[in-house]
Amino acid sequence: MKILALLGSPRKDGNTRAVLDMILESADAAGAITEVIELSELKNLTGCMECYGCQATGDEPGCVVQDDMQPILAKAMDADVIVWASPVFCWAPSWLIKMAMDRFFCMFKFEEGLEDPKCLLAGRKMAAVITAGGGEDDGADSVQETCRRLAQYSKTEWLGAFIAAKVESPDAIRTDKGLAERATAFGRKLVS
Ligand SMILES: Cc1cc2nc3c(=O)[nH]c(=O)nc-3n(C[C@H](O)[C@H](O)[C@H](O)COP(=O)(O)O)c2cc1C
Repeated sequence: MKILALLGSPRKDGNTRAVLDMILESADAAGAITEVIELSELKNLTGCMECYGCQATGDEPGCVVQDDMQPILAKAMDADVIVWASPVFCWAPSWLIKMAMDRFFCMFKFEEGLEDPKCLLAGRKMAAVITAGGGEDDGADSVQETCRRLAQYSKTEWLGAFIAAKVESPDAIRTDKGLAERATAFGRKLVS
């Protein structure tokens, strides 16, 4: 089974990377093939242009914006689990994650007569990994809800959010035994 994680921290080797690595290490050990895409490394990334060009294709993402999101959309189609990994930025997902999420709009196909759009990702699973400087109710809760709603609208199974609140540094994260135990359990959950 393939797990695709989209990492939305603008900081290389930051808090979210540290937590995500702990989780994916456990998923790897449980037999998953994992891949992390660092959105900050992409040179050419734009948001959804709201052109609805994607609605001309039925079974493919068909986004007409030719940038570095194209291979990510293809990888998402090929994944069993999609993980949104984001720091909390002003009570919301980071701008990189929001940009990528909006581009996933092309996965939805709005067919006449259907109340809900068809989603090309239906049947897959989604999860979130969230780090926050504040407590769980200082924005991590709203990021979790955004990801959960996206999973629900995508007709994917929601595996839940791993929240690391009040984090200080990658080193402090890596030496937090309680956090490591939770991360290991969450990694296994992604594979189950
Ligand atoms: C621009 C900005 C906005 C932030 N807003 C929040 C916030 O609303 N709530 C919160 O709990 N932490 C907030 N934080 C703290 C980060 O979420 C936290 O430090 C996170 O672990 C950073 O992850 P990273 O090192 O992977 O980028 C903010 C940090 C920045 C830089």
